[in-house]
Amino acid sequence: MLHISESDAFDLYSMDEALAVVEAATREYGLGDATMPSKIYLEIPGQTGDFRAMPAYCKQLNVAGVKWVNSHPDNQHLNLPTVRAWILLNDPATAAPLALIDGTRITSMRTGAVGGIAAKYLSRPHSHRVGFVGAGVQAYYQAMAICKVRPVTEIRIYDLSRESQLRFSRQVREFFNGKLVECDTVSACIKDVDIVVTSTPSRSPLVELAWVAPGTHINAIGADAPGKQELDPMILVKGRIVVDDVAQASHSGEINVPLHNKVLSKHKVQLSIADVVSGQKKGRLSRNQITIFDSTGLGVHDIASAGYIYRKALDTQIGTQIVD
Ligand SMILES: NC(=O)c1ccc[n+]([C@@H]2O[C@H](COP(=O)([O-])OP(=O)(O)OC[C@H]3O[C@@H](n4cnc5c(N)ncnc54)[C@H](O)[C@@H]3O)[C@@H](O)[C@H]2O)c1
Repeated sequence: MLHISESDAFDLYSMDEALAVVEAATREYGLGDATMPSKIYLEIPGQTGDFRAMPAYCKQLNVAGVKWVNSHPDNQHLNLPTVRAWILLNDPATAAPLALIDGTRITSMRTGAVGGIAAKYLSRPHSHRVGFVGAGVQAYYQAMAICKVRPVTEIRIYDLSRESQLRFSRQVREFFNGKLVECDTVSACIKDVDIVVTSTPSRSPLVELAWVAPGTHINAIGADAPGKQELDPMILVKGRIVVDDVAQASHSGEINVPLHNKVLSKHKVQLSIADVVSGQKKGRLSRNQITIFDSTGLGVHDIASAGYIYRKALDTQIGTQIVD
């Protein structure tokens, strides 16, 4: 069994590779060749954080596995990451253990990559201004991916924390030379942009419908557990919703609270990014339509990414054997 550390996973997986792997896995999932149950949540009484187990199988890479991941929003006050993950990979035919891979970087890369794929399929092709509400780890990877699929010339940032805002601006400069604007309000951050990314752990709406220009595409990334939400539910009522997975998003995505409160009806939330990427259904229907990608995080993206990294690690002799 091979151990692949976070720094090895970093070296083995670029955003270009992640975009290709995640797009292929999304298509496979749409066609039924990649499979997964909904993720399982483990709540810890008295704690604000939780754990999730995410098993999946990907035919193309011939791997099965499970990701064990947390979300602890208070960790930022302890100087610890909000999200950490570990992935166990097995041979689907024999169950032989193949690898134990640090999944922290993979989680951010695949979340960024699926945000990039959503922007590629759902935003208008000439989208060039992007507003980020929340400037933490996920925002950075979303920015990296979106800059690869759209001709971005302006990035705006809003965050409750000035420190996060400054760190994001500094990090984004690694790959972005255009205009960077640090905003004091959410409305200034998203006014007249083409793409909005929300990636906060908020439990109440931050983005109002009145601030969203016609034709905007929104990547709603932060809501990935019951009770979390970042968007005014009227944005969902008016817009075209594309989920990453109907069951997961209904349970824990951006749509979970409005569905629970019956502001949103179930028939509005049946379209998935896999339907669109596999060519079975249309994404955006008109130039002025608001589109929303509701991301909760898919096990098939984790396991496809881990499978790709595992094979590359074998080819390049990276990693450490831990069990014969
Ligand atoms: N959809 C997915 O697949 C997926 C994957 C990983 C993480 N997540 C979720 O995304 C969210 C962010 O994760 P992260 O790793 O970027 O965390 P992070 O702690 O690195 O960043 C979160 C940022 O949001 C800011 N913030 C918090 N409340 C805010 C508010 N009301 N308004 C503006 N900014 C606010 C914080 O200051 C921080 O900078 C979490 O809820 C996490 O569970 C989703």
